[in-house]
Amino acid sequence: MSQPAGLRPSPPCAIVIFGAAGDLTKRKLLPAIYNLKVAGLLPRQLAIVGVTRKEKSHEQFREEQSKDIREFATRSVDDGLWKEIGDALYCQAGEFTDPATYSKLGALLKDVARVHATGGSVLFYLATPPDFFGGIVKRLGEAGLTGQSDDAWRRVVIEKPFGRDFDSARALNAELRAVLDESQIYRIDHYLGKETVQNIMVFRFANGLFEPVWNRRYVDHVQIMVAETVGVEDRGNYYEKAGVLRDMVQNHMFQLLNLVAMEPPTSFQADAVRDEKVKVLKAIRSMKPEEVLKQAVRGQYGPGVIGGQPVAGYRSEPKVAPDSNTETYAALALQVENWRWAGVPFYLRSGKRLGRRDTEIMIQFRRPPLLLFGQREGQIDPNRLVLHIQPDEGIEIQMKAKHPGPTMELNTVKLQFSYKEFGETSAATGYERLLYDSMVGDSTLFHRADMVEEAWRIATPILDVWASVTPRDFPNYAAGSWGPAAADALMGQVGRHWWLPT
Ligand code: BG6
Repeated sequence: MSQPAGLRPSPPCAIVIFGAAGDLTKRKLLPAIYNLKVAGLLPRQLAIVGVTRKEKSHEQFREEQSKDIREFATRSVDDGLWKEIGDALYCQAGEFTDPATYSKLGALLKDVARVHATGGSVLFYLATPPDFFGGIVKRLGEAGLTGQSDDAWRRVVIEKPFGRDFDSARALNAELRAVLDESQIYRIDHYLGKETVQNIMVFRFANGLFEPVWNRRYVDHVQIMVAETVGVEDRGNYYEKAGVLRDMVQNHMFQLLNLVAMEPPTSFQADAVRDEKVKVLKAIRSMKPEEVLKQAVRGQYGPGVIGGQPVAGYRSEPKVAPDSNTETYAALALQVENWRWAGVPFYLRSGKRLGRRDTEIMIQFRRPPLLLFGQREGQIDPNRLVLHIQPDEGIEIQMKAKHPGPTMELNTVKLQFSYKEFGETSAATGYERLLYDSMVGDSTLFHRADMVEEAWRIATPILDVWASVTPRDFPNYAAGSWGPAAADALMGQVGRHWWLPT
């Protein structure tokens, strides 16, 4: 992997990971740091401090990480390159709630700044359960660890979930801003680190061809789907309190919607892009309770078959209540009420244990105004543009062509571009770009406070209705299917149907 054109190694700094003994660190963060190293995007003057609750020596921590990287790296590990990272690893044990942890961390940061010449800049990465976010930032502030100078920055990356409804997100924003300036806060969303997600903006705004038809005059509706085959695995504790609307829709899917619906920004500066994104969310009205019943569908998987294997229903998963009413599937019909999109529905759906893993955005265009070729109404498929986000990353346009032969028969054909043509799509964790950006101080791909609050403003009324009305039909879809019948009815009532990936 060579150094991408135009990118230089990030500036010297220390990365402090709170929750370094957790899954995220070994599965994503360290492999991403290793990939950045391979790409030549890490500075030589770097130290990485893991903050763990369990006591361990620097040496022990290094050994553990060296073992884990060999299991979780997305490429084969070069011993020499890894050693440079391994030698810069440190561990600070302590409770996240104990002020002493922060004074010890402060002393360690001074030491590593001297040994590794990091210059005093620090990226704090909060890979902890969300209940700790506010408290950690408060104590970092109290310990004097968040103050910046001209040559040393201090930034905090906050993992998801950011709040669990509008009020809690707003309260967390206030807690963070009591200590930090908004420019120091990096609310991460790993969907925005995905290559094909970043490509949506390039597709729209670096090509002159699509933007003229990207509006209510030509687009009939938009569908955004994030289908997963996995269940809740061992995350029952977390998922029981979350559900798919909080876990996937409020954050990742609203971001996909933003990218499809936003106006062209005036520049690619962080705030120019985020200003346009937040405008999209602002144009989505909060649903009234009676609208929730018509425009939102929830589901929960029962037992079924995936990939030929029988799998358990959600209520039989570990750490899940046997009478749980947590939703594992959601479908929504949203209206973006602005000049460009008025009257064009955006349909979102996401679920666990669906028939296939697939993330796609489908833009369906209006039918041609006259049927010249003898087709009957309903026989002619409209043009569709499909952005395949994962796993088969690419872009496809579906159009009609004449079938070769003496009669006028029409077939649907595809114009296709596969992202594989660029190579190297599989070697990344999705965190590389986001980590790099937070080190160089580019917050374009991170959520801003107002974006998070707007997204919760839309999601909260739906959650409120769902919390107050017990679902009578759960479980209402079989694992391995495409979701509950009510979701089909949501589309059926307006004469549409869900787009099934081909
Ligand atoms: C996470 C959710 O944010 O995204 C998980 O918490 C979900 O429940 C995951 O499985 C999906 O991410 P990806 O990158 O596999 O689509």
